[in-house]
This record gives sequence, C-alpha cells and structure tokens, in this order.
Amino acid sequence: MRGKEVVVKRIITLNVNGEEFEFLTEVHRTLLEVLREDLGLTGTKRGCDLGTCGACTVLIEGKPYLSCLTLAADVQGKKIVTIEGLAQDGEPHPLQKAFVQKGAIQCGFCTPGMILMAKAFLDENPNPSEEEVKQAISGNICRCTGYTKIVEAILSLTHK
Ligand code: FES
Ligand code: FES
Repeated sequence: MRGKEVVVKRIITLNVNGEEFEFLTEVHRTLLEVLREDLGLTGTKRGCDLGTCGACTVLIEGKPYLSCLTLAADVQGKKIVTIEGLAQDGEPHPLQKAFVQKGAIQCGFCTPGMILMAKAFLDENPNPSEEEVKQAISGNICRCTGYTKIVEAILSLTHK
C-alpha cells in the first residue's frame, strides 16, 4: 500500500508590482504558478515551463528572471514586477507604446516577457547597438514577428 502524499504548505508573502500579497501555498510552487493561479496576474505567460522560451520573464529587483524556474518561496522580500506593473499613472510604459507603434506584436504571447527583458536590458545599457539588442532578447522566443520589428521597437527608445 502506498503511503499518503504529504503536501507541505507555508504562508508566503510576496511584493508584486508594489503590493504585498500574503497567502498559503505549497512550498514547491513556482513564481509563475503563483502569479497566474493565486494572484490572477495572467500577463506572465507559460510557454515551455522548462526555462527555454522566455515567455514567463518577470523582473526581480530589476533583473530578468524566468518565473517558471523560480520558486515563489525563494523570492519573498524581493521586489517583483510583472507586465501588469509596468504602466505608470495609467499610461503604458514607453516600451509598451513602442511595441504597438512599431507593429512588434502579433499574437502577443511573447510580448510581456520580451518587454520586461528589454526593460531590464535598457536600464543597464541605454545606448545599445542592434547586435546587443538581438543578443539581449535571444532567450525570448517569438514565433510570429521574425524579431525585426521587436528590435526596431527597442532601438527606438535608445538615446542615439
Ligand atoms: S515558460 Fe519559462 S522559459 Fe518558457
Ligand atoms: S508575437 Fe506571437 S510569439 Fe511573439
């Protein structure tokens, strides 16, 4: 006879988009699962769930992380930003506007992760070359656009 599976739960507190959330959850759950299923922040996308597509990218303390490979319990006390938290005073972030204006969005599935990756990159490197932009987003897969318009949108915000 198989033993009963023990599910360990713990109260977790996360700071997401400037708000504190406290909830009871299983300790093995990923940040991606918690964001989408517990907090209802479905802007963060689940693509591969294996760390290879970049669709689940969020910012943690301003750096890009794959939320499908990050345990929610491990990022307590850190500032997490999802695509829902990027707008300021009801205005879309300049990267969001640039993606729309340059036609860098088709199905939109890759867009939240792509924009957050681009934000972290431009915060570190406001004057990148085209090659550097391509390199920066190389871990974010887009099946629709062919990347050209995405690169154009990101470059349109550089200070050259
Ligand atoms: S869903 Fe996380 S990298 Fe693909
Ligand atoms: S716009 Fe469809 S995957 Fe990028």
